[in-house]
Amino acid sequence: MRALTYHGAHSVKVDNVPDPVIEQADDLILRVTATAICGSDLHLYRGKIPAVEHGDIFGHEFMGIVEEVGSAVTAVQPGDRVVIPFVIACGSCFFCQIDLFAACETTNTGRGAILNKKAIPPGAALFGFSHLYGGIPGGQAEYVRVPKANTGPFKVPGTLADEKVLFLSDILPTAYQAVINTGIGQGSSIAIFGAGPVGLLSAAVAKMLGAERIFMIDHHPYRLAYAQQTYGVIPINFDEDDDPADTIIRQTPGLRGVDGVVDAVGFEAKGSTTETVLATLKLEGSSGKALRQCIAAVRRGGVVSVPGVYAGFIHGFMFGDAFDKGLTFKMGQTHVHRFLPELLEHIERGSLSPEAIITHRMSLEQAAEGYKLFDKKQEDCRKVILTPGRNDIEVPVSGDDGLATVPVV
Ligand SMILES: NC(=O)c1ccc[n+]([C@@H]2O[C@H](COP(=O)([O-])OP(=O)(O)OC[C@H]3O[C@@H](n4cnc5c(N)ncnc54)[C@H](O)[C@@H]3O)[C@@H](O)[C@H]2O)c1
Ligand SMILES: [Zn+2]
Ligand SMILES: [Zn+2]
Repeated sequence: MRALTYHGAHSVKVDNVPDPVIEQADDLILRVTATAICGSDLHLYRGKIPAVEHGDIFGHEFMGIVEEVGSAVTAVQPGDRVVIPFVIACGSCFFCQIDLFAACETTNTGRGAILNKKAIPPGAALFGFSHLYGGIPGGQAEYVRVPKANTGPFKVPGTLADEKVLFLSDILPTAYQAVINTGIGQGSSIAIFGAGPVGLLSAAVAKMLGAERIFMIDHHPYRLAYAQQTYGVIPINFDEDDDPADTIIRQTPGLRGVDGVVDAVGFEAKGSTTETVLATLKLEGSSGKALRQCIAAVRRGGVVSVPGVYAGFIHGFMFGDAFDKGLTFKMGQTHVHRFLPELLEHIERGSLSPEAIITHRMSLEQAAEGYKLFDKKQEDCRKVILTPGRNDIEVPVSGDDGLATVPVV
């Protein structure tokens, strides 16, 4: 089959690789109909995540049709159309039983990413996300093996086009968890750092939940302009304003700061040359630029919610400020499975239209070009979706009836 494989930093290509096969009785084989490139894939693409090997297949946002099931699979059958959560969870361990699916302690045969790990078992395996997370081949491919098939695959109605439901695999539940974690609601204020796909969908969720003021910080004018038009955010470009937190605070009553903040940037945050250099030299685990701004912008007693991926240590982490303000931090990989039924309802009802952020629809064969565009923010790229198969096939897109089609470009 054809699959997107890694060959060193900034080098990926679509190769012929062996077809996946059922390995465990509760595996299934999925024929992928749509897959997306995530900001998390960019960390891998740029060579920033350890334990990624040449030939590894990327991709953790995908959906498709069940092709074959192992003997113990009862939840789905061949022909079912499903979205696959990027987190692989067993459904029955200590953590799965309390809905902390990303903490599943039975699926990851890798080491996990904790530096000061002691004897703690790693969290859940993830598709296509390095050998730290289990080395499970990803879904930017024609076919993919899906472990724990009685727990993860989520059936979606045939009336909804692929691109309307594809983001249930990761970025929509990630944005939802991030905003829910801030505790904001009707009339609240929120600042969202990062106007990538996760930040944009966080703005969509905050708007849906009734947030009165949504500040959004980035330095790509086209992303900020889109967020302003679509979600009514107050945009702040950190290339033009070197202290967005100060600007935000000055627009809040009593100079208190916002009720909640979302860091949808993560460890590759731009804006501090020193930290970018230190992180490149591995003297610093992560750039703390966005996180410091989050801590500064939020009001006393507020929540800093961090979906952005962090690694290791940050020297410039203002823990004393967080203590003085009595802040709460919530973060981590998303417990995807937990949110899918309610998010599907929001999509069906039209209160969330995650597909609106898509700018590039390409064939899987063009995946390397898709990575380049998304990484370099070329052609005003917000989100790339890939369709396996020939270049001239048609992919469903959401028209008025949800089923219109356009040619793959
Ligand atoms: N927790 C999870 O389960 C989960 C799931 C999906 C993605 N993620 C992570 O979320 C983050 C965002 O993903 P994405 O797909 O939106 O990626 P993206 O790379 O497209 O977006 C990140 C945005 O942050 C902006 N940015 C950089 N430095 C900034 C700063 N100092 N202040 C404000 N904005 C800044 C960039 O310009 C970019 O637009 C990534 O770290 C990704 O790995 C986490
Ligand atoms: Zn992702
Ligand atoms: Zn589990």
